[in-house]
Amino acid sequence: MNDSNAFPDDFLWGAATASFQIEGATTADGRGRSIWDTFADVPGKILGGDTGDPADDHYHRYTSDVALMRDLNLGAYRFSIAWPRVLPEGRGKVNQAGIDFYDRLVDTLLEAGIQPWATLYHWDLPQALEDAGGWPARDTAHHFAEYARIVGEALGDRVTNWMTVNEPWCSAFLGHLEGVHAPGRRDAGDALAATHHLLLGHGLAAQALRSTGGPVRVGLAHNQAVIRPHGPNAEDVRAARRADGVRNRLFTDPVLKGRYPADVVRDLAGISDFSFVREGDLETMSTPLDFLGVNFYSPEFVAASADGIDPARVSGAGDVWLGAGPEEVHVSQGLPVTHMGWEVDPTGLYDVLLRLAGESGGIDLYVTENGCAFEDTVTADGRVHDPDRRDYYEAHLRAAREAVDAGVPLRGYFAWSLLDNFEWAWGYSRRFGLVHVDYATQERVVKDSGLWYAELARTGRFS
Ligand code: NOJ
Repeated sequence: MNDSNAFPDDFLWGAATASFQIEGATTADGRGRSIWDTFADVPGKILGGDTGDPADDHYHRYTSDVALMRDLNLGAYRFSIAWPRVLPEGRGKVNQAGIDFYDRLVDTLLEAGIQPWATLYHWDLPQALEDAGGWPARDTAHHFAEYARIVGEALGDRVTNWMTVNEPWCSAFLGHLEGVHAPGRRDAGDALAATHHLLLGHGLAAQALRSTGGPVRVGLAHNQAVIRPHGPNAEDVRAARRADGVRNRLFTDPVLKGRYPADVVRDLAGISDFSFVREGDLETMSTPLDFLGVNFYSPEFVAASADGIDPARVSGAGDVWLGAGPEEVHVSQGLPVTHMGWEVDPTGLYDVLLRLAGESGGIDLYVTENGCAFEDTVTADGRVHDPDRRDYYEAHLRAAREAVDAGVPLRGYFAWSLLDNFEWAWGYSRRFGLVHVDYATQERVVKDSGLWYAELARTGRFS
């Protein structure tokens, strides 16, 4: 395309959310408990003691939230379905009231001319399934497929685009190794078994969705990390290779290539013999995708050790490496950071798109999440002036636009997030929305970045 300010005519402009982060109403209409309800009840796990209530009370306000989406000129809305609303025990008895909520949401979106993009698993595992072993247990993958079938049968006549799992690395590693996300386990073996069963669940769910006969397109939302060596020396390059293996290839190789990467299996030999892999699993996991969703926020720089590096720049040691070998450290590059402390570097998005386009064999790519948290306030004029967020979006979208020029089949982009919401362990303290939410009054105010994004979505070009 010649005009570098313009996106392809059929480029899809969207925004994303997730059930636990926005819905609230955690006990309404027969919803079961999820691992995040349990985790949030443990003192000290969530900043400020925040819980899934009230969140954005979206469960009761979805009609006006869809109207807001229309004001923002969104062509698509990515949301997730709460498994414990549909199956309060994770399996067995279906809660029709839970399905009815998503049924109404989908119809409201379609009436507004907005495509519904549904994620089946955005981290809210039914607590009953955690009690039965959680993701480290193989049965969970089969229960997930059954849940996918039930939801696919209910909504597949109207929802075309499905994502099975969201950011499986976070579920597996933040939830089972680092313990900073639900269910809060700290066991490397569990993290690897959970990885396998999340990916197996993905493949089984893809097959289940397709078996419903609807015109479904299936993908997943993967948080590919951009891992760069801190220095050009051989040790840092090796550390980055190992980190890339655990963060990225452990997830993408089974799904895109039908195998676990040999170097990663070797690297992890002290932790797991991968005996959870059964015949046929990798074939199921690599069930062809219709599209790949890419979530990107910030690149990471890795060094082999902290020796000789200013301690103030070293952030976290070896968490991706499970302690099974020489530890690596994350090193800040001194770039501007968001309220999450994440460095801003849009070249990461360009790199990630080029790499995944190469690895995924020409299927459609979508940025299914990209965005940033800043400390927003509603000012006396009743508005939220957030130039940093607008700049972040523009810089990343320009990088995405360059990726299109470089031949990446990028078909759309979902801003994270539509609304300020429950940012997991950070509670309500981190605001990612295009729309500001006052949690006490539930008042919504479209931020300046939201107005800017709405104009981009309307025209398909930078003004
Ligand atoms: C990725 C997750 O999918 C989403 O739930 C989260 O809020 C954002 N990253 C920001 O951390």
